[in-house]
Amino acid sequence: MKKIAVIGAGTMGNGIAHVFAQNDFQVNLIDVSQEQLDKALATIGKNMDRQVAKGSLTEAAKQKALSNLTTNTTIADGVKDAELVVEAATENIDLKLKIFHQLDEAAPASCILATNTSSISITKIAAATKRPELVIGMHFMNPVPVMKLVEIINGYATKREVTDSIVELSKTLGKVPCVVNDYPGFIANRILMPMINEAIYSLYEGVAGVQEIDTVMKLGMAHPMGPLQLADFIGLDVCLSILNVLYQGFGNQKYAPCPLLVNMVTAGFKGVKSGEGFYTYTPGSKDLIVSSRFK
Ligand code: CAA
Repeated sequence: MKKIAVIGAGTMGNGIAHVFAQNDFQVNLIDVSQEQLDKALATIGKNMDRQVAKGSLTEAAKQKALSNLTTNTTIADGVKDAELVVEAATENIDLKLKIFHQLDEAAPASCILATNTSSISITKIAAATKRPELVIGMHFMNPVPVMKLVEIINGYATKREVTDSIVELSKTLGKVPCVVNDYPGFIANRILMPMINEAIYSLYEGVAGVQEIDTVMKLGMAHPMGPLQLADFIGLDVCLSILNVLYQGFGNQKYAPCPLLVNMVTAGFKGVKSGEGFYTYTPGSKDLIVSSRFK
């Protein structure tokens, strides 16, 4: 596989395009918004500059990687000669089903259709196509250029050869693939989200403050970020939507989202992306300031 199309130019889409382009794949990044595509290219350039500054990428390799990137605003045009499509659109089931229906119509018959979904059923997404055996989950972690894991999720109908080729491909990106099966939250979020939810419950019930909860997990368990900071980083709306998938998928009360999380998302406090969650964020500043609501 050499020709890759990436659908969605948000944080995950630009990260995925970044690693493919850096590893010499021809990448067509597709989004309905040209403005979003321009922003994504600028972000990729900036993130590659960080790698150049750290010495993990040469300036020449950066220029070569950037020349591997093209953009497109329509699926029909953008995937017509793709060998692999990685969909990284917004985490919304109806949108994903619509995109996969369009991909099935427009992509070559042999093209593998992967989704970066963090919790939506691969089997359900595959059922929106006439090629469910070529549909697979390829779940990258944020920030994509830094995080080593790719969680590869087999849908019910995914062919063994497809899984094997995505495993090999992930290794050529310098990633470590882990193959799992298609049940709510897969492995990453089935384990991560209950931890985050429990951290929010601990705050909600007054067991400890934001800083204390995060410090216990950072210094006590060697996590790079505490669970509340990580929730802000992932997006509180994304955390809530994944918890709802777990709650509905298993019908088990233990996955019920904490009412505090529900309130914060309803009120528009979504973490880093909205400027405030458990912490307050100022663009350009790395200071971690607890939101005044939790002081
Ligand atoms: N592109 C390229 N390089 C990047 C980058 C990006 N987007 N973001 C960070 N980096 C690089 C930095 O340049 C730096 O490089 P060196 O190690 O060579 O110095 C390194 O990553 C560390 O970055 P910083 O010094 O800026 O900051 P840090 O040390 O605080 O690390 C972090 C930042 C890597 C994000 C770290 O805090 C971390 O690992 N956090 C946890 C991330 C995590 O758990 N992600 C998974 C979220 S869950 C998910 O994504 C899936 C889901 O379905 C919800």
